[in-house]
Amino acid sequence: MSVTERTYIMIKPDGVQRGLVGKIIARFEERGFKLIALKLTQATPEHLEKHYADLKGKPFFPGLIKYMASGPVVAMVWQGLDAVKTGRVMLGATNPLQSPVGSIRGDFCLAVGRNICHGSDAVESAEKEIKLWFPEGVVQYTSALESWVFE
Ligand code: TYD
Repeated sequence: MSVTERTYIMIKPDGVQRGLVGKIIARFEERGFKLIALKLTQATPEHLEKHYADLKGKPFFPGLIKYMASGPVVAMVWQGLDAVKTGRVMLGATNPLQSPVGSIRGDFCLAVGRNICHGSDAVESAEKEIKLWFPEGVVQYTSALESWVFE
């Protein structure tokens, strides 16, 4: 568990189209995570196939790629204590119907194939995803946040 742990969080095309960008970002800011990188970008199917390489062959894979390529996503890197695991808890379960109220998916969506956000599931996948979505690298800005959130 490290203060400098980073996770890749992405608001999917449905989250962007539904105007939920501000609300999702607010939850991470309010919790005390630090925004390290952010961009609005429309990914190609080839790029998304790399992001979801582990799921290739699943019956929902073609539909997933089509949905994810259908509009811009908000790609973000958030940093802080236990960022990967806590990010997943904040998102909720893959299936929104199984996500607790209070989680992002539990509060804002219903269908597994329209679950509005992505979060890395492990530190190693976070590192891979950050490299894939931010090949230009991520700049570390200094900020006063740490001393006000972490002891
Ligand atoms: P997965 O990596 O298993 O879940 P998570 O996003 O919670 O890490 O699946 C990736 C995405 O694939 C998931 O967010 C939504 C989609 N998906 C479906 O459309 N149908 C399914 O049955 C599953 C398991 C996932």
